[in-house]
Amino acid sequence: MYRMRTRRGRLALGAVGCAVLAALALGAATPDDPGADVPRDALGAATPEHQEQALAKLLPEADVTKPPAAFDPVIWAAFIPEDNAMTPERVALGHKLYFDKRLSKDGTVSCATCHDVTRGFTDQLPTSLGIKDQLGKRNAPTTLNVALLQVLFWDGRSPTLDHQAMMPILNPVEMGMPDEDTAMKAIADDAEYQEAFKKAFGREMNYEDLGRAIGAFERTLVFMDSPFRRFLDGDDGAISAEAKAGWELYNGKARCAACHPMNPSNPLGTDNRFHNVGVSARHQNFEDLASEAMKLLKEDPSEQKLDELAVGTDLSELGRFMVTHKRVDIGSFRTPLILNIGITQPYMHDGSLPTLWDVMDHYNKGGEANLFLDGGIEPLNLSEEEIDQLVAFLFTLTDDRFAEENQRQMDEQKAAAQEKRAIRDDAIAGRKTLSFEPRVMPAEKPEK
Ligand code: HEC
Ligand code: HEC
Repeated sequence: MYRMRTRRGRLALGAVGCAVLAALALGAATPDDPGADVPRDALGAATPEHQEQALAKLLPEADVTKPPAAFDPVIWAAFIPEDNAMTPERVALGHKLYFDKRLSKDGTVSCATCHDVTRGFTDQLPTSLGIKDQLGKRNAPTTLNVALLQVLFWDGRSPTLDHQAMMPILNPVEMGMPDEDTAMKAIADDAEYQEAFKKAFGREMNYEDLGRAIGAFERTLVFMDSPFRRFLDGDDGAISAEAKAGWELYNGKARCAACHPMNPSNPLGTDNRFHNVGVSARHQNFEDLASEAMKLLKEDPSEQKLDELAVGTDLSELGRFMVTHKRVDIGSFRTPLILNIGITQPYMHDGSLPTLWDVMDHYNKGGEANLFLDGGIEPLNLSEEEIDQLVAFLFTLTDDRFAEENQRQMDEQKAAAQEKRAIRDDAIAGRKTLSFEPRVMPAEKPEK
């Protein structure tokens, strides 16, 4: 049920056909589906009108030249690029561009298709669906709090937010524009845009300013007013006893804080580094992938090629290696922000883990064994009670404005986890079996 709902309309596409899709897109979902009344477009995202309404509720008119509430002005200033001061004109322009499907080759996809306001600013799909029903290889992270990231993308291949915004438009499996000129031509005749670009940047429309405007809009999406934040600020009653126990484990036995540090001066939950935590290692032949990547990137070392390979091919699994070409980075991905983690399922760079219980099962067994696994990843021997406590803690990281969705996700994930915990392995978690044993001594070794 749970999986069906989250993929509703989108993944039915290839397999079942357009008639079913149309029915699903019109909201013909099961009665227990709370998202059933949301009007959706052909790709399954909430319609732009519906998303705009939701956004207006989340973000009442605010002075964008000021830091977000509770943000120190000096710290906030460090997140604003020198060539892109926050102005209402830039934010308004970026807002419009974020929702504009004309920026995709066939006019069906916008940023908001995959970073949907009503779905935690992601698509809540394992991996994203772009133009012509093409399925990418990576999970779409949320655009919430992206202002605070030091590098962008799972593999950190984009240095800034403004720069990042120029990439998906040109990616063949996302928005599919062949080049910057074609993208600009798609909106060049719009007099509103001509004027808005002039007002925002004082010059003619151009692709870099498009990136800057979208970046400015995304910088308004700071959402970190969570129960846990209030707890950190000294409100002891802000989170439950169960979540508090989870917080202790997070810093202690479960060792999450080693990579996801959380404290009053760094409340984001990322070390901004890259690690191989063994997510999909079992399915990969890293060596073959690495040599293929080196060959292709030598033929065409452009940024666009890298983006194409990272999002659209199996080379995606190489992670940070594709950027640095260093063997130690094989299968490494940036430690994600875990703010609002309760509403951005499914998890990991490939969206392979549907619930936070699955995430805990993953860490509890020390990830999938592979040659490049980070040294910090080992079996944790957490009990079921401890797993529940850690999950309870993770659900306190969601901004209050999403409290309802967070509760709904928690209930759904709990129900799904009670039904199925696909990767749970108590023997490895408790070190009764060592994770390399099955490889060294295959269970069904063929007799000669
Ligand atoms: C077809 C779906 C799709 C579309 C359309 C799309 N994105 Fe994304 N977005 C993704 C995926 C998938 C990733 C992760 C790719 C990766 O890390 O390699 C991503 C990553 C990002 C990130 C990086 C977040 C992080 O944590 O590093 C930002 C920011 C972002 N997108 C913003 C945008 C903007 C702005 C647009 C429109 C110009 C857009 N996206 C269009 C799917 C999409
Ligand atoms: C060695 C560093 C490291 C440790 C230790 C670690 N993480 Fe992670 N975490 C990462 C990286 C890197 C990713 C992304 C991995 C990927 O997608 O391949 C990640 C992904 C996640 C995600 C999914 C985020 C998303 O947006 O999909 C969650 C949730 C998470 N970690 C929670 C935890 C918890 C809870 C613990 C402790 C039990 C923990 N992590 C321990 C580095 C770490």
